[in-house]
Amino acid sequence: MCGLVGIVSGKPVAGRLVDALRRLDYRGYDSAGIATIEGDRMERRRAPGKLFNLEQRLDADPIGGAIGMGHTRWATHGIPNETNAHPHFVGDVCVVHNGIIENFAELRQELAEDGALFETQTDTEILAHLMARYTAEGHKPVAAMLEMLRRLRGAYAFAIMLRSHPGMMMAARCGPPLAIGHGDGEMFFGSDAIALAPFTDEVTYLANGDCAVITRTDVTLFDFYGLPVQRTRQMTQTSSYLVDKGNHRHFMEKEIAEQPEAISHVLARYVDFTSKSVKACNAIDFSGTDSLHIAACGTAYLAGCIGKSYLERYAEIAVEVDVASEFRYRTLPFSKRQAALFVSQSGETADTLAALHICRNNGVVTGAIVNVEGSTIARESDAVFPILAGPEIGVASTKAFTCQLAVFACLAIAAGRRRGTIDSAQEQALVGHLIEVPRIMSDVIARIQPQIEDLAARLARVRHVIYMGRGTSYPLAMEGALKLKEIAYIHAEGYAAGELKHGPIALIDDSMPVIVIAPYDRFFEKTVSNMQEVAARGGRIILITDEKGAAKSSLATIARIVLPHVDDIISPLIFALPLQMLAYHTAVIMGTDVDQPRNLAKSVTVE
Ligand code: F6R
Repeated sequence: MCGLVGIVSGKPVAGRLVDALRRLDYRGYDSAGIATIEGDRMERRRAPGKLFNLEQRLDADPIGGAIGMGHTRWATHGIPNETNAHPHFVGDVCVVHNGIIENFAELRQELAEDGALFETQTDTEILAHLMARYTAEGHKPVAAMLEMLRRLRGAYAFAIMLRSHPGMMMAARCGPPLAIGHGDGEMFFGSDAIALAPFTDEVTYLANGDCAVITRTDVTLFDFYGLPVQRTRQMTQTSSYLVDKGNHRHFMEKEIAEQPEAISHVLARYVDFTSKSVKACNAIDFSGTDSLHIAACGTAYLAGCIGKSYLERYAEIAVEVDVASEFRYRTLPFSKRQAALFVSQSGETADTLAALHICRNNGVVTGAIVNVEGSTIARESDAVFPILAGPEIGVASTKAFTCQLAVFACLAIAAGRRRGTIDSAQEQALVGHLIEVPRIMSDVIARIQPQIEDLAARLARVRHVIYMGRGTSYPLAMEGALKLKEIAYIHAEGYAAGELKHGPIALIDDSMPVIVIAPYDRFFEKTVSNMQEVAARGGRIILITDEKGAAKSSLATIARIVLPHVDDIISPLIFALPLQMLAYHTAVIMGTDVDQPRNLAKSVTVE
């Protein structure tokens, strides 16, 4: 992951580098650093941990200079300390890097045998050493970078400046995104347009395999062989304002509360309220589709699992869902009658992007269900279905998840209509349910809050939790467990309720809370039977059900959260709320860093 920024200007850059890093810390927050060249001095300031630490260091020991670069790190090679923080210097060379150099061990050994002394455990330092070696051999800067690129394997985006050439900066992209910002008498590199938004709204995205050299007034683009390439310069819509928390303690709390509004935006885009029909869903024609692949990671993958249920049920399309890191290495027979959907909040997740490339290269029609509309996955897909959740800052995905579900529901209805598996009356009924979601969500969030806080106080005392459900409640169980793990650091597992007896039930005793997700749907009685099996072994049941389910189940529970009874198509959107809220309040009680939990980053651009 990691975020990088570079500025070639006539004005001081240090403060602006830090501003850009603040906008990039969703890409990692293990350490941060900046470096500048002023006169014949190249200097850097770095600090482990959050950006705040770097700011303190710069307050105490500022640096000048009108050319510089910055980096926020998500550690891959080497612990997150100051030594391993970017930028890395070797002689005249300064490098910042996002990605992984896969052949770093062999290059490091080769360089070490040549006498190179390594200060860090990072793969990035290899780049600085290689550049230093090729420039020392007499190559001009660009030729040295091209020489270096021939040696690298992996996925990377990096920027390089040289103390000996203080008017220019170079960069290359092989995998992770990189943008050039065009300013007035100054030019920029950034991991994305968001980082550059305070400085310019004109960007050029590097394509995979592109290199660039920027000066204050010029940009030159070429490929890894040094041959010139042309890329379109475009205006971005990205706001230069950083989103704030409003009255909320955390972004996550705000984003949970924003879900009714976010879903309204989805509905405004994909639903015609007058005719109660879906619209804007036909960018992929599913009428001739034999089968569909869905690939995504983490929470987006779990949204994909629920999307599969919708598409199978309402459009009768056979769907396979994979985590993208597995999909990309499967051996599959592809055909032109297949389509593939890639789900990603950020639109930059490396594995999801790789899965997209595989499908595209095999002639499969591709669609992106993304939040960030200018993202790489959106730009590289045949069709884009924006989820319109607005900026999601909390690392734990909440509103993006429910918006992804809403988009999947609309796509499934549209596909069902085109394939003739549902008629207009069914479409109207389903859309009628979707239209109710914002209102029901608002009611639920307000109503269950006190009960959730109570329950969170109890969960904060346990070390393990099991979640279980059937049908769409199975991926929801996994999503509930994922949320609890990532922000409250409590070990949790989500199981298909029917699977428990095939092994995990051995874990049940009177210290194990089991959260049962059981809306009153066609699985309800089966789930209740599985709940009985757990209760019989002393498990402490927390039942999340609806009014009809509550009336039918008399089993003793330690807590019972009762939601309104809703149609199957919207039930996952409503039942996601208590799971998100429970994880959030548990994490708050435990005092974790809710918005930036340890070891994580919002955007995962490494494999
Ligand atoms: C969990 C979470 C992650 C992301 C995953 C994919 O709360 O947010 O699991 O869902 O890293 O990220 P995107 O959706 O950006 O591809």
